[in-house]
Amino acid sequence: MRGGRFEKRLHDAMRRLNASIGFDRRLYREDIDGSISWARALEKAGIVDADEARRIVDGLEAIAEEISADRFSFSEDLEDIHMNIEARLIERIGSTGEKLHTGRSRNDQVATDLRLWAKGAAGRVIGLIEELMAALVDTAGRESDVVIPAYTHLQRAQPVLLAHHLLAYVEMLARDVVRFRAAADAADVSPLGSGACAGNQFGIDREALASSLGFAGVTRNSLDAVSDRDFALDLLHAASVLMVHLSRLAEDLVLWSSAEFGLVRLDDSVTTGSSMLPQKRNPDAAELARGKCGRVVGNLTSLLMTLKALPLAYNKDLQEDKEPVFDTVDTVELILPVFAEMIRTMRVDAGRAAERLRDGYLEAISLADYLTRRGVPFREAHRITGEVVLEAERRGRTLPELPLEAYRKVSDHFDDDVFEAITVESALRDKTVVGGTAPDRVRAEIERWRRELAGRKSGGRRRGKKTHDNREGRARE
Ligand code: ARG
Repeated sequence: MRGGRFEKRLHDAMRRLNASIGFDRRLYREDIDGSISWARALEKAGIVDADEARRIVDGLEAIAEEISADRFSFSEDLEDIHMNIEARLIERIGSTGEKLHTGRSRNDQVATDLRLWAKGAAGRVIGLIEELMAALVDTAGRESDVVIPAYTHLQRAQPVLLAHHLLAYVEMLARDVVRFRAAADAADVSPLGSGACAGNQFGIDREALASSLGFAGVTRNSLDAVSDRDFALDLLHAASVLMVHLSRLAEDLVLWSSAEFGLVRLDDSVTTGSSMLPQKRNPDAAELARGKCGRVVGNLTSLLMTLKALPLAYNKDLQEDKEPVFDTVDTVELILPVFAEMIRTMRVDAGRAAERLRDGYLEAISLADYLTRRGVPFREAHRITGEVVLEAERRGRTLPELPLEAYRKVSDHFDDDVFEAITVESALRDKTVVGGTAPDRVRAEIERWRRELAGRKSGGRRRGKKTHDNREGRARE
């Protein structure tokens, strides 16, 4: 590539600084797919004949085999995956291979590769998120009778179904899926044919090229096309929000699995021991998700900073786009299956959960509601209830243990039906509003999610949209 222009070799440290082959080799399949489509486009444009195009395509397929079988020797001198593959093609098929880069630049080439990779990655992550959603829905169904305190300010507030709590995370994850889909759509536009920065001069059919690669459309401005990495930002943002959600679920699990809460026992398969304290069972999976959240958000920040104030069009800074993207996708692909396993296998201590409901005067709001149903204005009911709680505290009793006489001392609105009004069951039963924790509601939500997730699994998701056959999963280095 230094062609005839340079008289000296690169300085050793400069060569190392400049090379991206250490990490962009992961784009090999996308690069080869892009080059195959490019060779066909050159054939259509009359730059290569049918025989030459066939030899280029065969050569590229053979190189793909070499790389996936680990028989390819990557060279730092050749900088990146694009030059490594092209050099090998020329080595294999001779001067015909030298025609492949006609009218193309690594600038539109690398943007194409990364977009293809991002689309594939977003699709895989969506599948993993939906598996975690299914694990949450199944566990919610399995433990559908368990009642726990809901917390505000990490103080016990009101009884809710554990299933309701788990389904809250399903809602978050469903929004994550929407974000990853949007990121995939943002990536789904072909920059190929934009050249170094000004466009193509050989009458390349960009639309046909794009659709042969499974892209939904083509970019409309060559300067933007070679310098735009918004699709990568979208992917990193989607992943950052996902990790924030997982870190919240992680924190709930860390708390719940502590002796202090004692609400769940995480399975041996996802807990670790201590090198010193033999009794320990640590929720490391949850802690690592919490910890890695910072790294993923850092990757988003890193790419934002890379793009900030970059003049048009391509600049070598953009080579810094790939590592944050790869690291982020690797991280979420590592964590999501562990979370699905952790949720599926966790054991819930319904007895401890019930104990947690006993003290803390969680019935107070039901008591106030009881009074308001009898026509007492809410503020007055609130004050009366506060006095009853104070009385219960003085006597060292819970609200259901307090005798009617104590209630009536505070207000003669109380009758003996008050005890029925302050049971956990009635507190749950009356939250029938959409989004409430009434058992019938929650059961219907579980069913709704089951149907929705089953529908997505059976292929309802992309509704016939053509996607690039991304082979990253099978040919991971
Ligand atoms: N390795 C480069 C990258 O990742 C490929 C594009 C290089 N383009 C250039 N004009 N030097 O961005």
